[in-house]
Amino acid sequence: MPTKAEELYERRKRVLPLSMGIFTPTSAESAKGSTVIDADGRELIDFGGGIGVLNAGHCPEPVVKAIQEQAAKLIHTCFPVSIYELYLELAEKLAEIFPHHTKADDCTKVMMTNSGAEAVENAIKIARQATKRQAVICYSGAFHGRSMMAMSLTSKTMLKQDCGPFAPEIYRIPFPYYNPKIHSMSEDVFCEFHLNELRKHFVTTVAAKSVAAILIEPVQGEGGFNVTPKAYLQGLREICDEHGIMLVIDEVQSGFGRTGKWAAYEHYGIKPDISTWAKSMGSGMPIGCVIAKGSVFDSINPSTLGGTYLGNPVCCAASLATIKYMEEININALGEKVGGIVRKRFEEFQAKYPQLIGEVRGLGAMLAFELSVDGDILKPDVNGGKKLVDFAAEHGVILLSAGVNSNVIRTLTPLVISEEQLNKGLDVIEAGLKMLAD
Ligand SMILES: Cc1ncc(COP(=O)(O)O)c(C=O)c1O
Repeated sequence: MPTKAEELYERRKRVLPLSMGIFTPTSAESAKGSTVIDADGRELIDFGGGIGVLNAGHCPEPVVKAIQEQAAKLIHTCFPVSIYELYLELAEKLAEIFPHHTKADDCTKVMMTNSGAEAVENAIKIARQATKRQAVICYSGAFHGRSMMAMSLTSKTMLKQDCGPFAPEIYRIPFPYYNPKIHSMSEDVFCEFHLNELRKHFVTTVAAKSVAAILIEPVQGEGGFNVTPKAYLQGLREICDEHGIMLVIDEVQSGFGRTGKWAAYEHYGIKPDISTWAKSMGSGMPIGCVIAKGSVFDSINPSTLGGTYLGNPVCCAASLATIKYMEEININALGEKVGGIVRKRFEEFQAKYPQLIGEVRGLGAMLAFELSVDGDILKPDVNGGKKLVDFAAEHGVILLSAGVNSNVIRTLTPLVISEEQLNKGLDVIEAGLKMLAD
């Protein structure tokens, strides 16, 4: 007799496009914290957090309550039609946590969106209008979403097959992935080399005076948890300042405590001109935002930003309650704690299975290991990721891969996970590595 989950997958085949991905072969009926109960009543440990959406956990009580109360009071007006205080309260809170302005006579402003992709779309619209320039520089391995502009900015070719033509005036440069095992120079020299490559790019490919924005993830999410080196992002800030280019930082996956700070860019001691957010901002409700210097936002044309549902009252209530709850539980300390435990275990896995793991990397609790043939980081194990993810699902753990070769095993656990549950999940990953090694 088929399980309920098997039945659901059969129904899915009949009524949904086959092209829609299946990242892990699991199902969900209900969830709390870091535990999911699947369609057959089985308990699963969540290491994926709905792709980084659940830093505060599944169904946090104050968030559920805020959603319920708000839904009973006011679900929709469309903010430009009738304003409501919740949107303003959320914008004020976000501007307080993520100040972007650097001058006393400037300020920080916020625009809500429905998703990360929509935040990226709008960030580019804003940067172009503010600079009166068109070109956008982005990176290999980047992921910025699936709408037309966001997909054009995304790197992985498999996600874009036959979808073109893509948006014009996009220039992709290599992501500054540094690994002392394969680069014989120091990290500082490596960063200087890559910053110089960018300066050369202005001469050989697109003039700096034509560039509206440079868009970068501080830690690449879908690209495989590649951490931007500190000196590189600091250098990028200087180059943007020198040439009047908007530095746009995409924090959709790395934000809200995931790296042990509200914003991953805080690790770098810099501020963006514009930033994009979504995912854990609303504990699963569809809300994102663009944050920018007030001077940038207010330089653009009237009526060029908008959307029916942006900052819907129920989503704003969920986001405000999420942020308040995150403050109460000290989400950043939890990010650091979870990150410390996972890193230690991943390093032990690498020491035990050097033939499987080419690298352990990440920032805070945004941690991953890369499966490589013979442990050689230059030889991605293109089959290992799926095997390990399937093994984990069979043994009660929702696990996600990442990377352009889907061979990077990443952790995006709710940060409220208990140490015991975290270690239980890590034990399953370890057993999966043993299965791969045997
Ligand atoms: C860094 C980054 N930017 C943008 C997006 C797109 O967000 P959404 O799926 O909400 O459109 C994602 C999604 O994974 C992401 O990781």
